[in-house]
Amino acid sequence: VWICGHSRKRRKGEPPLITGWLPFIGVTLDYVSNPLGFLRETQKKYGNVFTCKIAGKYFTFVTDPFSFSIVMRQSKNLDFQKFAVGFSQRVFGHADFNSSLFSESYREVHSIFRQTLQGLSLQQLTETMLGNLQIVLERGLPHEHDWLEEGLQSFTNRIMFEAGFLTLFGKDAGFLQADGISGTRICMQKAVQDFLAFDRAFPLLAAGVPIGLCAEAWQAREALAEELLHDKLHHRNCISDLIQRRMDAFDCMHLDETGKARTHVCMLWASQANTLPAAFWSLYYTLRSVDAFTAACTEINRVLSGQLINNQDQTICLSREQLDSMAVLESIIEEALRLSSASIMIRVASDDFTLTLDSGQTADVRKGDYIALYPQFIHLDPEIYPDPTEFKYNRFLDEKGQRKSNFFKNERRLKHFLLPFGSGASECPGRFFAVNEIKQFLALTLWHYDLQLSDPDATLFPDSTRAGLGILPPSRDVLLRYRKKTNTTTE
Ligand code: HEM
Repeated sequence: VWICGHSRKRRKGEPPLITGWLPFIGVTLDYVSNPLGFLRETQKKYGNVFTCKIAGKYFTFVTDPFSFSIVMRQSKNLDFQKFAVGFSQRVFGHADFNSSLFSESYREVHSIFRQTLQGLSLQQLTETMLGNLQIVLERGLPHEHDWLEEGLQSFTNRIMFEAGFLTLFGKDAGFLQADGISGTRICMQKAVQDFLAFDRAFPLLAAGVPIGLCAEAWQAREALAEELLHDKLHHRNCISDLIQRRMDAFDCMHLDETGKARTHVCMLWASQANTLPAAFWSLYYTLRSVDAFTAACTEINRVLSGQLINNQDQTICLSREQLDSMAVLESIIEEALRLSSASIMIRVASDDFTLTLDSGQTADVRKGDYIALYPQFIHLDPEIYPDPTEFKYNRFLDEKGQRKSNFFKNERRLKHFLLPFGSGASECPGRFFAVNEIKQFLALTLWHYDLQLSDPDATLFPDSTRAGLGILPPSRDVLLRYRKKTNTTTE
């Protein structure tokens, strides 16, 4: 996709067209090296709507936050599924669900997301996650008083990946037996390594490089698929409704077994690729800021204190109401997401049409062009968020300590001020579960462990080579020292 034919000419009524000096690749290099910087510069020169030639495709960027909902509402002219399913087929190697053979039944598969990631199913999933987090944490706890050292990213990935995997895909039949535990653990270490190896290649895969040319990523994806074959999943206990219903639906569609397993790799990626870095940043910023740390611990103590005194097995329970009441943790997570999210929302024009923006300005769009929204424009806008690159743990809290949702630009209140989960047709169906599981992770780790960053003053930046792909991971890992707290029941 990096190479395409000659550039087109701008027609009357169309937004400014920026094709760059290089005839084949357009402005791809400028965009890839610093997407936000490039888009800000272009916006300054050409205004709130402009078309760029990137990787051989024409992208019309709309940068005015008040026009975001207008784009989102254009489901008649702007299609999300075709692009998303095509991309997923190319990267994960499953069947073409856009084809007439599958498109009808895939619509039903797609509706499973919303049915199983909200309401009662969400509650069930959240409870299972809390149990699994405690099993995984308990196993890794050092003896009292012993300090352990590990990278914070490696610590977060290890715990969140395993607990999240078990929550969605269930446990090995032998998981609860003494000898089964070690077997599961080795397999889980391999699964997390495979997941990370596959995920590392994502920027290349997203840019259109065939997975066959990324040998390590291909092997890792196939190894994960091997673990998620229906034959193996049938031997696991406590599989989530989400996965069970997808398995039943794919069985009815008569896909081949590897094809079914690859759709589960896709689901595994969706459930982990953003959650792992989001959990990392949430804990990292909490440990770096004394105010955030103190406020978080006060909230966790308020919710958990007293709960364990008469509880023999020391299991922590967090009801839905308790999780919902943790406004400080929620604000920390939202602030971490604001700073680390660099997703791009893409729609494909299904016909030629005229887009009328919030200001009344119109822009003609050609069939097949991409319309792109880049939420980082909003997330790092100093008018909406003063000192936008600073972490402020209480940015999403009002004076009463309740959730804050009034943010302004040009003295107008914004409907969309935080979009790490996308919006409209592409809004993440797992968003409630994601926030719940990160809250649980923060609550349990801060409750059970003394945690210190070895070098709290060192500055850490997000890895912007992944811009456009969601939550950016850190550019490197940082050393964490941790030990079990001496007596958490009496805190
Ligand atoms: C889609 C963000 C966690 C399941 C998306 C999209 C975003 C997103 C931005 C839209 C992608 C696009 O426009 O192409 C996040 C973030 C998460 C997170 C920031 C964590 C902090 C999860 C979790 C699950 C999940 C935990 C499931 C358990 C999905 C699915 C889709 C999706 C299935 C595709 C939806 C569709 O095709 O309609 N996510 N996500 N996500 N996410 Fe999440």
